[in-house]
Amino acid sequence: MNLKNLLFEDKKFPLFLAPMEGVTDPPFRFLCKKFGANVMYTEFISSEGLIRNAEKSVRKLKFDNFERPIGIQIFGHNVESMKQAALIAEEQNPDMIDINCGCPVKKVVSKGCGSALLQDIEKLQKMVAEVVKVVKIPVTVKTRLGWDMNSIVIEELVERLQDVGVQIVTIHARTRNQMYSGEADWSYIGKVKNNSRIKIPIIGNGDIDSVEKALECKNKYEVDGIMIGRATIGHPWIFDEIKCKVENKNFVKPDVKELIMQHLEMEKNYKNEHYAVVSLRKHYKNYFKNIPDIKNFRQTLMDAETIEAVKSILDNYNEI
Ligand SMILES: Cc1cc2nc3c(=O)[nH]c(=O)nc-3n(C[C@H](O)[C@H](O)[C@H](O)COP(=O)(O)O)c2cc1C
Repeated sequence: MNLKNLLFEDKKFPLFLAPMEGVTDPPFRFLCKKFGANVMYTEFISSEGLIRNAEKSVRKLKFDNFERPIGIQIFGHNVESMKQAALIAEEQNPDMIDINCGCPVKKVVSKGCGSALLQDIEKLQKMVAEVVKVVKIPVTVKTRLGWDMNSIVIEELVERLQDVGVQIVTIHARTRNQMYSGEADWSYIGKVKNNSRIKIPIIGNGDIDSVEKALECKNKYEVDGIMIGRATIGHPWIFDEIKCKVENKNFVKPDVKELIMQHLEMEKNYKNEHYAVVSLRKHYKNYFKNIPDIKNFRQTLMDAETIEAVKSILDNYNEI
């Protein structure tokens, strides 16, 4: 299958939901899809965990057909484990396998995974090449600019990945050492797009938090799509807002209270009530943003322990 046909031909400019561990579980992906996200990935899954059949890893493989096109994202550093994990992921019949080469978190990097791979891109290329060879479905890569500002490798890396058959590269325009600090520097993504050797689609990622920023990055850097992460938390309708702007349509904000109840129910069905209530706490800040004197109300939601309690707090709040 050619991803270019699947993702880029009739959908002119796909919007990707960024994979986010602990956030982009199936219920949240459902909401983002409903609000116009075109492409998404599972949360990252440890290749070693998959091979061991660890419950946490196996659970993350699951997705619904409604979410398609979807990629299963795996991480690791051992070639054999990555090949095996990719084959396990392929059995779920996703549209693609994505390899995480960008996670900056210490626990991941210290094992040689995620953005640690950027310290030796020849080795990274070999590992990815083996995964491409072993699976029948497209392989994509999500990565950062390099390990630090003195070792920006992104152009060479994308060339190498293209050479071994990777079909899309998503670039988070920061180095590993930056973690999430400072600002993403999209000019490096622009350089990749201007490199005449690079023909595969490039998805830009980093700090898109508004319709204006999305359109600015789309137009200025001519990426083939954009990926949005943190700005979707408590704001999954951002995709719809962007689409309405591009298509010159009127955007209607959803009913936030209804959305929260739907989100809670789905999280409960996915795992259990406690998980649902705790999961939603990440979202309240943005679900109720730019509203005067909202702090105390938000705190009561944060303190709620049951779905019934959340419902009662929402029912008694009439300011929105
Ligand atoms: C809580 C959290 C979890 C994340 N988990 C993953 C992950 O599992 N896989 C991945 O490739 N990136 C992960 N990321 C990085 C995001 O996909 C994205 O690249 C990053 O947040 C920058 O995009 P943004 O500025 O739009 O948020 C995570 C980020 C956050 C904040």
